[in-house]
Amino acid sequence: MDYQAPRGTQDILPEDQTCWRYVREKGEAIAQRYGYSRIDTPTFEDARLFTRTVGEETDIVTKEMYTFADRGGSDLTLRPEGTAPVCRAYIEHGMASRPRPVKLYYLASIFRYDRPQAGRYREHHQFGFELFGEADAAADAEVIEMAWRFYRELGLITLPVQINSIGCPECRSAYLSALKNYYATCLDTACSDCKTRYHKNPLRLLDCKKPDCRAAAVKAPHAVEYLCQDCKIHFDKLIAFLGAVEIPFEVNHRLVRGLDYYSRTVFEIQPAEEGAQSTIGGGGRYDSLIGQLGGEHTPAVGFATGIERIIINLKRQNVAVPGMPAPRFFIAWLGDAAGLAAFSLTAILRQAGINLIQSLSGRSLKAQLRQASSLGAEYALIIGDSELCKQEVVLRDLLRSTQRSLPLEGIVESLRSV
Ligand code: HAM
Repeated sequence: MDYQAPRGTQDILPEDQTCWRYVREKGEAIAQRYGYSRIDTPTFEDARLFTRTVGEETDIVTKEMYTFADRGGSDLTLRPEGTAPVCRAYIEHGMASRPRPVKLYYLASIFRYDRPQAGRYREHHQFGFELFGEADAAADAEVIEMAWRFYRELGLITLPVQINSIGCPECRSAYLSALKNYYATCLDTACSDCKTRYHKNPLRLLDCKKPDCRAAAVKAPHAVEYLCQDCKIHFDKLIAFLGAVEIPFEVNHRLVRGLDYYSRTVFEIQPAEEGAQSTIGGGGRYDSLIGQLGGEHTPAVGFATGIERIIINLKRQNVAVPGMPAPRFFIAWLGDAAGLAAFSLTAILRQAGINLIQSLSGRSLKAQLRQASSLGAEYALIIGDSELCKQEVVLRDLLRSTQRSLPLEGIVESLRSV
């Protein structure tokens, strides 16, 4: 065949939908329990929304965005992350006037022109949760607790949540100077990307994955040692709140995240079984973002998790995912007149809310019953000419191989009580 799904994208086949539905239902239940309302934003946005918020020097903006000019000449970008679009919608629809905090969640496809590999795709899907209008560290802790419980309720075992504070714009500048002073002494051994980061985005020096750079990062100064008084109080409170709800966490001084809009809290969660692309979810506080987009200053914190990565880990950790319910009944028939009656009976039963599959051709009864079993049906309803004459159907229990006749009159009630 000439066509295949584009590189880095995937078809989600019917057999994959069991896992998808499981994750979707758990995510929606958690969103409801923590008071989040669903929001859906467009698949594409004005390109500047992302270049200005995610950060001009980030990998997402420099290498990964799908940006195109539409026929009207506007520069548009396929959503490379979900937070900036939700902030845009928050401002555009005057949500600042709603009772605070405003809590919104989304389930959206995300596009990043990345090098595809296991767990890393060019189109993936995220469950995201954004909380607006609360500056207290209790909000950060509640978001982290919700993320951790989401994985726990899915049946996933995770490592302790990694947290860090990268401070506010004021105290960060002192930290960035310290970081640059430190890296100035070891820049000659750094990779070429890090040499650029040193000048353009020094925080990201800390999360380079190359071995020499990792070794250098181990001895780098810690952001938490440069926090101003308010940021330090915030971080200490976060730790106290996480302790109060017994969320296992550890401070990772090298955690900085790949998007530039964060301030103070950043966090990530990894599954217990490590592998490439192991982070399943991450987020943090982004108090300046709404103001940066032209809204009134609004503190905010959020989190997003990749559904594909969750599913990879459900499989790795052998989590038993409940299957899709099979149709209970299958209608088999023999002869043209019975076929017509079966077709009409199927319609009546479906309108009464009974799930069933009908045979669409008058093959041998054996072949029809084989089809019923392969679909996982519990019962077959069989109609032939003699049943039609007597105005009844045969109800065959496919597991026990027993059968009995049921009158057509009152069939809906009879099947409901089977
Ligand atoms: P992020 O860490 O870039 O954060 O993405 C969130 C999650 O999406 C990751 O932890 C990972 O599970 C998944 N993910 C990211 N890239 C890929 C990929 N190429 N293939 C498969 N899965 C991927 C954000 O996007 C922020 N907007 C999160 C946030 C929400 N911060 C505050 N609120």
